[in-house]
Formats: sequence, C-alpha cells, structure tokens
Amino acid sequence: MPVDHEFGDQHTELKLSIVEKYLRFFTTALRGKFGELWYIDAFAGTGSRTVRHEHRPAGLLDAGEPERVERRRGSARIAIDVKPSFDFIVFVENKPSYFAALEELKAKYPNRRIVVIKNDANEALKSLVATNNWRSTRAVLFLDPYGMQLEWATLEKVAATKAIDVWFLFPLSGLYRQATRDLADVDEHKRAALTRMFGSDAWEEELYPKTVREDLFDGLIEEPRQRTANVAGLEAYAKSRLETIFAAVLKPLPLPPNERPQRFSLFFCISNPRAIRLASDVANHILKAGMAS
Ligand SMILES: C[S@@+](CC[C@H](N)C(=O)[O-])C[C@H]1O[C@@H](n2cnc3c(N)ncnc32)[C@H](O)[C@@H]1O
Repeated sequence: MPVDHEFGDQHTELKLSIVEKYLRFFTTALRGKFGELWYIDAFAGTGSRTVRHEHRPAGLLDAGEPERVERRRGSARIAIDVKPSFDFIVFVENKPSYFAALEELKAKYPNRRIVVIKNDANEALKSLVATNNWRSTRAVLFLDPYGMQLEWATLEKVAATKAIDVWFLFPLSGLYRQATRDLADVDEHKRAALTRMFGSDAWEEELYPKTVREDLFDGLIEEPRQRTANVAGLEAYAKSRLETIFAAVLKPLPLPPNERPQRFSLFFCISNPRAIRLASDVANHILKAGMAS
C-alpha cells in the first residue's frame, strides 16, 4: 500500500521540473570529468506525491469529471530516473512512514547505489559532508523543507565543500511570520528560529534598524523598532546572507509565481567558484523559462 504524501500545487510541478532539468544538465555535462556524481535530497518525502482532483459536476458544455487521485513522481523518484544516471544517491527523511516508502523505492533498484537515511536533515548533511572527500566528487543538493527546518551551520558546511550545487526552496513565508513588523513581537521562539536560520543574531540590527527622534524636552528618544524590509526586502536579505558563504547565488524564482506575497523563493547556490559561469548560465536559462511559463 503506497504511502500518501499530498503537498504543493502547480508551483510544486514547476519547482520539480526546474530541478529535473538541472539534474539532466549536470550528469550530462559532468559525466567523465569527476570521479563521482551525487544527488542528495535532504527533505526527500516518499518518492511520489498524491494529487487529488475534486469532483467537477457536469455543465451545459462538458460532462464534468468524477473525483480522482493521481500519483506523480516526487523529487526522489525524479533523481533516480535522470539519465545519464547519478553514481550515488542519498535520501534523507525523518518521518518514519516516509522513510519506509523510500526504502521500498530503493529496493526496486537493486543495481543502483542508493542510501536512505532516517534522521534530521541537518544532522545527516553535516555528517555526510564531513565524511566524504570532495576533491573528485560533485553533487547536487535539493533542499525542499516545509518550513524553517534548515540551519545556517548546515549550509555553511555544504558551501565549504566547494563541490555542491544547491537548489534551496527558501521558506519566505516562514521568515515573514517569524520576523514580525514590530521587534517587540519577536518572542524567544521566533528569535531562536531566526538565529538558527541566519547563523547569528545580526538580523536584529539589520532587519530592525534603530531610529531616534528628537524630543523638545527629553532630547533624543529611540523609536520602537520595526522591520523596514517588505517581502522583497526579506528575500534580498536572505540572498545577501547566502552570498556570504556561497561563491554565487542566482536571482531566485518566486513561488507560487502568481501569488502575492510569494510563499517561497527558489534559490540556486553555487559553492565552487570555478563552476560559476557554466552552472549559472544553465540555471539562469532554466529559471527564466520557469518564470515565463
Ligand atoms: C515538501 S516535502 C519534500 C517533498 C519532496 N522534495 C518531493 O518532491 O517529493 C518535505 C519533507 O521533509 C521532511 N522533513 C521535515 N523536516 C525534516 C527534517 N528536519 N529532517 C528531515 N526531513 C524532514 C518531511 O517529512 C517531508 O517529507
């Protein structure tokens, strides 16, 4: 019995098609140039996703449609299908039933080198990065969390390999929910989430600049601190933080494309300075085609 994993909508389709196109480019362009090509999916899901189409009653001009359930490929299955194939595939998933589904998926490909890790993505990635010698390995990492699960310390380790290209579905809505308008509303829980996501508490000064006004009797008075950046400013802030550790970060794709405010930003980050030209040309091309669609 397949495990149901219902998530996303049209933007999920777009996101997965962008990643798939890049994976195909990656294994085609780099095959034979490096010892091994890896794919790492740190929030891997089950390998498939369930799309429910609601019952559509018959109208004057069409016969309508009964309710139906469709199963489409998720990122894990897409990566297995990519041709030329990856030499090694790593799936990380912390939900037990999803982990079991990934084990089942892996069992269907006995001749492929696939590892499924049941752990928190941060723990698994840090250990994977530390235990491999990245001199002759190149990898694509897909980070597709539901929310703000990814820690800055993990991204730092990934970027330091100078061997991993990263597609990161950045949870912008998570960010604007935690970084409330008034600094006074950022409680301890939100504060910890922001610091974990950005790696230090510098966000407080950067997103909530101090302003003062002059009072006739009391002199300079500090105003209550407010976030000045809007959603676009928050995305720009996230990009500038990523640029401090990656060799290059492309302009992200807002997702869903026609929804304002956007909920996510699909970032592409390149860790190897020598790969910037080719990787960014290709990824930009794929992203632009995505924006136009
Ligand atoms: C949006 S889904 C990923 C979908 C997947 N990319 C696909 O296309 O099928 C996010 C997944 O991350 C898993 N997850 C959430 N928090 C996690 C964590 N801290 N470590 C590992 N996996 C996590 C969830 O169980 C869920 O399966």
